[in-house]
Amino acid sequence: MHPPLPTPESRLPIVIDTDPGIDDCLALLLALYSPELDVRGITITYGNTVVENAYRNAVEIIRKVRHPVRVPLGIGARRPLKRQLQVADDTHGPSGLGYADVPPAGVILDYVRPLERVLEMQPEPVTLVTLGPVTSLALVLRANPDLVRDKVARHVAMIGNVEAAGNQTRFSEFNAWCDPEALRAVLAAEIPTEMIGLDVTRKVIMKGNEVERLAQHSPWLHDALRFYVEFHKKQEGLDGAVINDVLAIAYLIQPDVLTFSDLRLSVDLDDGQRRGRTKLDPKGSFTRVAMAVNPAPVRRMLFERVLPAGALAEEAIA
Ligand code: BDR
Ligand code: CA
Repeated sequence: MHPPLPTPESRLPIVIDTDPGIDDCLALLLALYSPELDVRGITITYGNTVVENAYRNAVEIIRKVRHPVRVPLGIGARRPLKRQLQVADDTHGPSGLGYADVPPAGVILDYVRPLERVLEMQPEPVTLVTLGPVTSLALVLRANPDLVRDKVARHVAMIGNVEAAGNQTRFSEFNAWCDPEALRAVLAAEIPTEMIGLDVTRKVIMKGNEVERLAQHSPWLHDALRFYVEFHKKQEGLDGAVINDVLAIAYLIQPDVLTFSDLRLSVDLDDGQRRGRTKLDPKGSFTRVAMAVNPAPVRRMLFERVLPAGALAEEAIA
């Protein structure tokens, strides 16, 4: 028996803050193809690429959706609170979307507190999903903490790591590393945040042959993803790509894919290898951290909803 179709009232209202980014691209498409979710706004941050590229990429991603999408799109944080801006060209390509064809990015003049504006527009509290550095959220918390308390029911973040190795330094995850001061401020606010980090996202992988199969029916996504596969091959010797951000969206649709532990965490503000490390600390901020995942339903959801039929390597599902 199929579960009942979501009614407009039962859809989960969400706002996504993102830095697209190849895995952000899949995550955004999954959100926009999922009737369980009501995407109320998308705000763009620097991170994988500069904010101009990230905004252009978000527009291109939305244009790929097979139905009309009407969603407020805001331009957000252009740099970390204190650190120098550094982006991830090696991981996501100079455009942020690998080899995918994209038009030139425009010049952005309006940087005025977009996440704040999108939250103000919400008639009721929403789930805020962050798929990049949390600078935009830290800025709203600083400017208008009551707005966050009123309009953010919970914060689901792809960020950090507890037991898993880092992907930016030996110890640190990229989104945490970009702006450790912002992450510290967000965790200290105890909004509450649910952290979905490398401990679980490293287990959600799109295989090399699955990416190859996209070439025929989905050449644009294939061009984005084959860059990501090349990076993972060079960097980690993996035949495939870790599609981190997808897991945060999949969790909203099917919460039982993740198991959480209630932990106290702090964020390392050092330089070097420890910058942005999220670590257990009895005096740290209370955080729900995803420590176990069932990847099969996440992959199935992605392939059924976003990727063309036949792209899934069936043997990988079990
Ligand atoms: C995170 O960093 C970026 O490379 C990805 O888009 C993801 O949000 C993984 O560490
Ligand atoms: Ca991201």
